[in-house]
Amino acid sequence: MKGWALGATALIVAGVAACAKEEQAAPAARPLPRGVTWEMVAKGQALFNGAANCSGCHGRDGGGGFLAPRLSDREHLHLQTSSYGEILERIRSGVPQPKRHPGPMPPKGGADLSEEQLREVAAFVHHLDPGGQ
Ligand code: HEC
Repeated sequence: MKGWALGATALIVAGVAACAKEEQAAPAARPLPRGVTWEMVAKGQALFNGAANCSGCHGRDGGGGFLAPRLSDREHLHLQTSSYGEILERIRSGVPQPKRHPGPMPPKGGADLSEEQLREVAAFVHHLDPGGQ
């Protein structure tokens, strides 16, 4: 019994260590913010690359393009903390004065998004974003 408990403890410790390592290697895997579900992230991704056409400027899955920056790196032009709330409001208001790109981002990227869809797109962008300054 004792041996079993020790073995289990070792397994748990190894598991936690592996998770910590993984987190370092893939900082993009931020925990979901309060009120956000994986379903919202998935729906947001479909909108981003589809009906909302964010990908038309930001590239597929926010990889970046000539018209708009990559959204999956630590470089932020119009975000301080890249919290879910901040990302949501940035998408809502757009970017009237771009810093490095030729034209502005209209509010909601110019797409006709409901409040629910806006939250889904923001959930996907938050998931892409590794956080930080
Ligand atoms: C017409 C092109 C265009 C479309 C469409 C567009 N964006 Fe943007 N987006 C931009 C530009 C330009 C910037 C600012 C880049 C700069 O300052 O040089 C920006 C900035 C952003 C930022 C802030 C990035 C940062 O580094 O601070 C986010 C988040 C963002 N867009 C999300 C979206 C989402 C989500 C959609 C779809 C609903 C979308 N954008 C649609 C052009 C676009």
